[in-house]
Amino acid sequence: MLSEKMEAALNEQIKWEFYSAYLYLSMAAYFENLGLEGFSHWMKAQAAEETMHAMKFYRFVHERGGRVRLQEIPMPPEDWDSPLACLEYALNHEQEVSRRINALMSAAKEEGDHATEIFLQWFVSEQVEEEDSFGRLVNQMKLVKDSPQGLFHLDRELAARPLDLNLMAQEA
Ligand code: FEO
Repeated sequence: MLSEKMEAALNEQIKWEFYSAYLYLSMAAYFENLGLEGFSHWMKAQAAEETMHAMKFYRFVHERGGRVRLQEIPMPPEDWDSPLACLEYALNHEQEVSRRINALMSAAKEEGDHATEIFLQWFVSEQVEEEDSFGRLVNQMKLVKDSPQGLFHLDRELAARPLDLNLMAQEA
């Protein structure tokens, strides 16, 4: 059984995972508007992953006899100064998500809630990957700088990311 405090903290994290999906969809729209369809596609795939993350928490709260209480999702930004600024914003966001996952982990340890600790371990590893993939994207973008050819190639590369909408259904 989840403590009331842990249930509230996990519900808060459901909101942040859905917010992440919302943010990346907003970035997808930004890139689409710039004609960068590969970047847009990559962000849509990321939004699908974030929805899957939210649904993992959703299922876990129920599995532990808790109650899912959905919260208001803040409005994401819709414009950035440049594609690089947008990607840097995303990287900062992922660092913030990692901080939140770490805080949840510390709270679970303090409570002696081992089931939540084990559940969160997947997210700790996932955040290492998430920060790595956004970090690499930021570095690639810095290499491209103002080269239209470099941007074209990177856009083509990002278009190849699989977009698996079944991810969400599997986690529900
Ligand atoms: Fe679900 Fe990208 O953190």
